[in-house]
Amino acid sequence: MKLLFLGDVMGRSGRDGVSERLPGLIRDYGFDFVVVNGENASHGRGLTESHYADLRAAGADAVTLGDHAWDQRDTLTYIEREPTLLRPINFQPTAPGRGANLIEGRNGHRVLVINAQGRVFMDPVDDPFRAVETAIAACPLGEQADAIVVDFHTEATSEIQAMGVFLDGRASLVVGTHTHIPTADARILRHGTAVMSDAGMCGDFNSIIGMDADEPLNRFTTGIARERFTPAEGEATLCGVAIETDPKTGLCTSVSPVRIGGTLSQSLPQF
Ligand SMILES: [Fe+2]
Ligand SMILES: [Fe+2]
Repeated sequence: MKLLFLGDVMGRSGRDGVSERLPGLIRDYGFDFVVVNGENASHGRGLTESHYADLRAAGADAVTLGDHAWDQRDTLTYIEREPTLLRPINFQPTAPGRGANLIEGRNGHRVLVINAQGRVFMDPVDDPFRAVETAIAACPLGEQADAIVVDFHTEATSEIQAMGVFLDGRASLVVGTHTHIPTADARILRHGTAVMSDAGMCGDFNSIIGMDADEPLNRFTTGIARERFTPAEGEATLCGVAIETDPKTGLCTSVSPVRIGGTLSQSLPQF
């Protein structure tokens, strides 16, 4: 099967880019399943219910979150009734919603989607490795799950590499989110798991990680906050990764970075 993962959707620019381009990508490349990280879709902070509905309408079969999961207060309630919206699995046990779910795609494939958050340069969370291990043990690849996608939301590339090696042969794709900058290391590990350290964002790169550059630059150069951050509103580059999996094993047979539109160098799915 063919899967597409898109990184952090950033504000209106990112939402518009996804709504305009994702339906065509699904049609042109025959994607069976699409996962989109929506943690910054609502003005850079969290995901309102209506923006979640927009991502789903554009073709996202599952939407993942991250450290910005609760920036929009209504997410605390509507996530309970949305089985295709996932927050990090290793949040405290009292957190609402779920961090993993087996979701059926448009062509009947069952995909285990897991969202986890890292612990290096991040706010404290429970052990992501043990949490992901438990979810995969309950729904193994090639048995209950036709594919397994892990969105590992964290800052340090080393931590994502560790998760990739930890899950090699047990997941289809381990992809990092959170830094908003796409990395050039998409590859298939020895036992068939695809890894990319960061998917990058869906947003305007004429910015500082999706925010209008003036205020972040001001804070870096003066150390004094002057105003709020506001998302940059130019054309988005949609950033992510596309994989194809073996129908029997669920392991990855091809992986390619995706960068479409906006100002970054372009990279189309290679199948
Ligand atoms: Fe983000
Ligand atoms: Fe984040």
